[in-house]
Amino acid sequence: MKVCVFGANGYVGSSVYKVLKDISGIEVSGTFLEEPSMFDDLVKLDVNEPESFSEYFKEEQPDVVVWSVMAGPNEHELTDQGLIHLITHLTPETKLIYLSSDFVYSAGNGPYKEEDPLSTLPEDHTFSNYTNAKVKAERLIDKELTNYAILRAGPIYGENEIGKLDERTDKLAYHLRADKPIAFRDDLIRSFVHVADLAAVIVEFVQNDLIGVYNTGPEKTQSFYEFMREEAEKLGYDADLVEKGSEEERVDEEIPKNTSLNTEKIKEKLKLNFR
Ligand SMILES: NC(=O)c1ccc[n+]([C@@H]2O[C@H](COP(=O)([O-])OP(=O)(O)OC[C@H]3O[C@@H](n4cnc5c(N)ncnc54)[C@H](OP(=O)(O)O)[C@@H]3O)[C@@H](O)[C@H]2O)c1
Repeated sequence: MKVCVFGANGYVGSSVYKVLKDISGIEVSGTFLEEPSMFDDLVKLDVNEPESFSEYFKEEQPDVVVWSVMAGPNEHELTDQGLIHLITHLTPETKLIYLSSDFVYSAGNGPYKEEDPLSTLPEDHTFSNYTNAKVKAERLIDKELTNYAILRAGPIYGENEIGKLDERTDKLAYHLRADKPIAFRDDLIRSFVHVADLAAVIVEFVQNDLIGVYNTGPEKTQSFYEFMREEAEKLGYDADLVEKGSEEERVDEEIPKNTSLNTEKIKEKLKLNFR
């Protein structure tokens, strides 16, 4: 089986790439964009660039594609260009595993089930670019493809397969090491998922025939404040240095309050435990 991981240089993608490389019977290739590359065999590719995308895809002819790219403020380009290039090349035999986000539920009244309606944000909202691009991508995939799995995740944390920490935990450790307090909000509720657990789910979806939309992560939902206090304790620091952050915000910067996920469906389908 041949698998292509787009975004194999990233936090999630590099974990998936590394795990897949060690599985016999799987031939894996992956892409990166910005130097340095985390593996010496990744191919440099801008997925938004049609000719090089086409050349790469035709050369690889994968059975499964893992789409683990992210571009923050330029996320819409990844949907309007990169994802569309991908969709035009996919045959019904090729399975797409698309990584999506809890931010598709930006109305913020979780915990959300897979079938709950997605919502977009006004164009002038700070988070509209990422949120609306993800919503658009999910709708496009659903309209154009049949052989796909959309895996939605909340904030992803922990040390990945190549020793990289998520930015939030990295910042936490940096502050606590210096005995400096750090604040996180108690009104923002999420389903935090460990990067190794998510990578294991993706690898499972590479190997199984399951399709459809799945919310991923543990049953437990927490605020950033609660979660980061726990993380501080686990890392051996003084958790009292983690304080409650201000909940004041401007209307166009309002963060979706509760985007936690109901993850019963994936737990029923897979025999994997989320920590
Ligand atoms: N991190 C989270 O908390 C979180 C939460 C929910 C969902 N997700 C989703 O999970 C997926 C992976 O996220 P992540 O945290 O691993 O992100 P990440 O570390 O930023 O990795 C994303 C990768 O995308 C690549 N990329 C960006 N633009 C590209 C382009 N035009 N062409 C080719 N590659 C491009 C980058 O390559 P280079 O590094 O080589 O530049 C980067 O490695 C994304 O779909 C994201 O929306 C993440």
